[in-house]
Amino acid sequence: MAVTLTINGHSIEATGNQSLFDYAEGLGIDVPTSCRKQGKCKECMVEVVEGMDALSVLAEPERHLKGNFRLSCQTFVAAAEGHVRCHTMRRGHMRIERHAFGLPISNREFRLDPAVTRDGNRILIDGVEVERSTGPILGIAMDLGTTTVVLRLVDLESGEMIADTSFENPQRFGGSEVMSRIAYDTEHPGRLLMRTLAGYFTHAIEKFPVDPKTIYEMVVVGNSTMRDLFFRQSVYSIGQNPYQSITEIEMSEGKRATTSLSQSGLHSLLPIHPKARVYGAPIISGHVGADAAACMLAVDLAHEERLVAVMDIGTNTELIVGNKHRILAASCPAGPAFEGGAIACGMPALDGAIESVEIAGDGSFRLRVIGGVPPEGICGSGLIDALSELLRTGRMNDMGRFSDDIQRITLCSVEGKDIFLLESDVNELAQAKGANVAGLHAVFSSYGIDFDDIEVFYLAGGFGRHLNIESSKRIGLVPSLASEKIVQAGNTAIEGATIALLSKTKRQELEDLVKRVEHCRLETHPSFFEFFVEGCQFKPVEPIPCAS
Ligand code: FES
Repeated sequence: MAVTLTINGHSIEATGNQSLFDYAEGLGIDVPTSCRKQGKCKECMVEVVEGMDALSVLAEPERHLKGNFRLSCQTFVAAAEGHVRCHTMRRGHMRIERHAFGLPISNREFRLDPAVTRDGNRILIDGVEVERSTGPILGIAMDLGTTTVVLRLVDLESGEMIADTSFENPQRFGGSEVMSRIAYDTEHPGRLLMRTLAGYFTHAIEKFPVDPKTIYEMVVVGNSTMRDLFFRQSVYSIGQNPYQSITEIEMSEGKRATTSLSQSGLHSLLPIHPKARVYGAPIISGHVGADAAACMLAVDLAHEERLVAVMDIGTNTELIVGNKHRILAASCPAGPAFEGGAIACGMPALDGAIESVEIAGDGSFRLRVIGGVPPEGICGSGLIDALSELLRTGRMNDMGRFSDDIQRITLCSVEGKDIFLLESDVNELAQAKGANVAGLHAVFSSYGIDFDDIEVFYLAGGFGRHLNIESSKRIGLVPSLASEKIVQAGNTAIEGATIALLSKTKRQELEDLVKRVEHCRLETHPSFFEFFVEGCQFKPVEPIPCAS
């Protein structure tokens, strides 16, 4: 007998003679590594979804790992039979959009004005020579999310995108949301989180079809925790009331003029030009980070007369409401449920994820799967559809309880393995939704407006791009606005980062804009808990009475 080992959907009969890394190599799977299986780089991590008990005990180089994560080069099959299923942190491209949609400006409509310029064979950053070369001048815009990392390689002279890539943030071994990452980083000083991620960046950048040394500038956006971890700042204070980044504290003490950060390529441990500038866009306040700031640039809020809202649904949902005259922003700790985390059969929006669910007249499920391959799990947009359809057909009530006292609904079965939804999954989703809805009510009531006053409601982010609007309205994830007011804009954070990379003027606009934003602190809003309880129910989000 042998153990059946399934890595990234490929199976093999395994014994204890080889490590999981060796088996993965044999299956043609590209496992990230910089140390050639020495247990040093910490990059070869796999997440074990079944059969953790059938594996060897944790080796010394793996002591930093929590939950079901293992280093594949240190892990062996220890049982005589059974099934082990695991996947690497880079299961292929996450679903990313090459462009944003429905925005008032695009990369082509503002004047190209990059900080990196050419004067003959001299390459300059802000007028200071950093290299002599006639080669290309390139830059990278990066959205460093809690769950997903997106990189976009851009020609700084033409403004054209050359390539892009994305991967799951390998820091997941330190927890799936920001508060656990902060706790992990505090418990494990030694910068383990950043060290693992740096290896992934290096592989991603080296795979771009260019000489990495021709990359002279990088603009990094992300929530306050992700950004500060990247710049190796202490994130402890972001986890403690009043939840402020060290840069925000220093600015309030007059020690710095901006919350933006900057360091060299060499200091960033990236394979780009050593004198390249790596610029961390300014954060707004608290958990409202540089990603939300970049969204404001992408929707051109500095020049917007109309009243608009931006909602970027994610592990941390960002909310921005306002126009050029007044802006309010908030961050809702929604957790990873809508990105497939903490859900029994949840997975990111990768090939094999159920992305759309319909219940036919005979009660059967009609599923659409990303990549047209057999389903492996269900991603956020599929979960929204599933909840909406269960609600529509009366198989779930608005409190999230399944009819007939059942605890589990099976969506499909593939090779004897069920993909299902548990009532406890619905509970997780209800809480994530409750946080988002409470954030919406709190921000709108603080602004003194109603949902109907909004002229454009941007749904930002990859998740917002792919969710079904009617399903989202039915379960009460987005407000019941006229559909023509809702714009599924895609990844506005990477769009904003790209604009800041291509234009010094726009970057300055961003620096000025963040200082004008009022931070709506949800934790201190008097009605937050009431809004949250209401928001946990699966019913349309109706306008609330005006607060002023
Ligand atoms: S390959 Fe580097 S730690 Fe496993």
